[in-house]
Amino acid sequence: MKGFPKSVRVVEVSARDGLQNEKQALPTAVKIELIDRLGESGLSTIEVSSFVSPRWVPQLADAAEVMAGINKKPAVRYPVLVPNEKGMQRAIAAGASEVAVFAAASETFSKKNSNASISESLQRIEAVMSLAKENGMPVRGYLSCVLGCPYEGDIGAAVVAELAERLAAMGCYEISLGDTIGAGTPFGAQKMLTTVAEKVPMDELAIHFHDTRGQALANIYACLELGVSVIDASVAGLGGCPYAKGASGNVASEDLVYLLHGMAIETGIDLDALVDTGLYICRRLDRIPGSRLGQIAWRKQDFPQEKICKSAKQKQ
Ligand code: HMG
Ligand code: MG
Repeated sequence: MKGFPKSVRVVEVSARDGLQNEKQALPTAVKIELIDRLGESGLSTIEVSSFVSPRWVPQLADAAEVMAGINKKPAVRYPVLVPNEKGMQRAIAAGASEVAVFAAASETFSKKNSNASISESLQRIEAVMSLAKENGMPVRGYLSCVLGCPYEGDIGAAVVAELAERLAAMGCYEISLGDTIGAGTPFGAQKMLTTVAEKVPMDELAIHFHDTRGQALANIYACLELGVSVIDASVAGLGGCPYAKGASGNVASEDLVYLLHGMAIETGIDLDALVDTGLYICRRLDRIPGSRLGQIAWRKQDFPQEKICKSAKQKQ
């Protein structure tokens, strides 16, 4: 066991994973302000949007406008998600300097999420990789359903390890292991990560937990113990996947950073600024934050208390 890392790089995915899952598309200006505030709070990697089909994810159809509007800080990386060559061309035209690709460890999820089998999706990734090489762009790889699939149930760790190895061999500098529907628990997460780390070095792996069953922080703690040092998270716990039934928000960035700082693990993030950013986006969404820290701050702020009471009454 490698042991807890001294520092962790948090990959902030709210502007992509979070906003892809909202019923309504938010105004472009709000997305831009969210990303700029995230940059101000000290995050070093902020996923901006995705260049997927606007028919599949209309919420992010303004990816190019968001890219053009953000105030890019020199020390911050701003990757975008791309599903295929067409998305890659759009990302390049929009001035992206880093992209992320995605595949799944479940055939059924792959079909539902990208209208392609796993092997077809790897072929699409090959096409993206060759454009990335031509343009000198680093590529991050996501692997979904690593601890369970909404359609197929359990997924074997060996399948996940083999696909992670394929993505690494194709040139992805890092593989983010996604518990898309938050099905995992700590020992299962450790087993999966240990199996994958036999094929891909731990310092090329990241973890991406959705908190559907309230296990995300426990799973993250278990993976930290094995030495993982890159963790995806989403401010206010926004997130989900429109093509994964039952997927809810990502682990909340604020709660993750609270955990990490409490363990004396450095992140470079200003937690107060991050909590404020969570409140900002929740006001725009007219929603109480999904993060526990955000909920404390929400109760304290001078904000339409009436509204909170009203929605509580409506639920009764
Ligand atoms: P398709 O319908 O099979 O695409 O979708 P196609 O190649 O047959 O093309 C159909 C039309 O779409 C054509 O237009 C293409 O040009 C157009 P037409 O000729 O009919 O006018 N098209 C595009 N337009 C814009 N941008 C593009 C693009 N590609 C094709 N990139 C496709 C295939 C992959 C595009 C579609 O299935 C798709 O966009 N899927 C993405 C779904 C998605 O975004 N899911 C969420 C992200 S993954 C996730 O959240 C998991 C993660 O967080 C990790 C975890 O939690 O596990 C990463
Ligand atoms: Mg996700």
